[in-house]
Amino acid sequence: PLHDRGVISRYREYLPVSDATPVISLNEGSTPLIHSPRLSEKAGAEVYIKYEGLNPTGSFKDRGMTVAISKAVEEGAQTVICASTGNTSAAAAAYAARAGIQCAVILPAGKIASGKLVQAYLYGAKVIAIKGNFDDALRLVRELGGVNGIAIVNSINPHRIEGQKTGSFEIIEELGDAPDMHILPVGNAGNITAYWKGYREFAEAERSTRLPRMVGFQAAGSAPIFYNKVVDQPNTVATAIRIGNPASWEGASNAVTQSGGSINIATDEEILAAQSWLAKNEGIFVEPASAASVAGLFKLLESGASLNASSIVLTVTGHGLKDPDTAMTTGDYHPIEAEADLDTVRSVLEQS
Ligand code: F0G
Repeated sequence: PLHDRGVISRYREYLPVSDATPVISLNEGSTPLIHSPRLSEKAGAEVYIKYEGLNPTGSFKDRGMTVAISKAVEEGAQTVICASTGNTSAAAAAYAARAGIQCAVILPAGKIASGKLVQAYLYGAKVIAIKGNFDDALRLVRELGGVNGIAIVNSINPHRIEGQKTGSFEIIEELGDAPDMHILPVGNAGNITAYWKGYREFAEAERSTRLPRMVGFQAAGSAPIFYNKVVDQPNTVATAIRIGNPASWEGASNAVTQSGGSINIATDEEILAAQSWLAKNEGIFVEPASAASVAGLFKLLESGASLNASSIVLTVTGHGLKDPDTAMTTGDYHPIEAEADLDTVRSVLEQS
């Protein structure tokens, strides 16, 4: 039935909900797992892309937000608050609107992709841009939230991780088992923590027979986990993962240690090249942070080491339309204007 969609209704038994929990959903989840023939050929393995940009607000954050907002409403919150590099704030604002509660978002000024910023305003959130980075914003949120009916909906709220683990459940259901390797971008490190939890839970429930190696990619200018050191001034074109002190650092470390995986880096140049490659070769347009997964696979292949995997899943976390401005600064965007007559248009078409 129509009212029975979304990750809470699909995976209720694995989530911290009861009959008393009001389900605030926008039919998130059930995103496509798209086989990539060209990446498969390059990798010598079956490569699948989990296209999380097709969630209701255009990123994977909706999976966690449906649970976090439903629980916040159940617990009587009047307002939710979050720090964000843009996608969490878009999701929080949308689900708060759906729930009929207030939402406040604290963002690093000038560092939010335009699509995401517009979303927060249109969904009716109170938007505060601070002169600082994401890590500063999260520090403020930790101090502001948790009192007076104000619930924090960053991934330091465990309900967010619970919702996001459903990404793994869907992959296992589609493939019939877990893949050998899972690659995803890492920023605040909530998602790698969540996917690993999901894979372990389905293995324990005997719904899968194996666990994937978890392989995370950070942007080279914002790679605290890779360098094992807080980055005070993180920088990257992939603003979604412009984070210097990830809240779920330990969760990410556990995921890679327990799974035999790794945390690696990709440069901005490699990220943008991968974004362009994926759009042109597979018809999948993702935002720069998401392309870190694809850049990551390319880097693993270039290293020459055997992947030792017959199935690989890449999560691409957010839609390309989130950040049109960055895409328009690349060489791919080269508008041509012409007079509206046949000869002119024909001669433009014939130019290489
Ligand atoms: N990809 C995208 C598109 C993101 O928006 C984020 C995080 C990540 C990857 C990394 O996920 O933080 O769980 O390791 N965005 C957060 C936000 C920080 O505020 O929207 P993570």
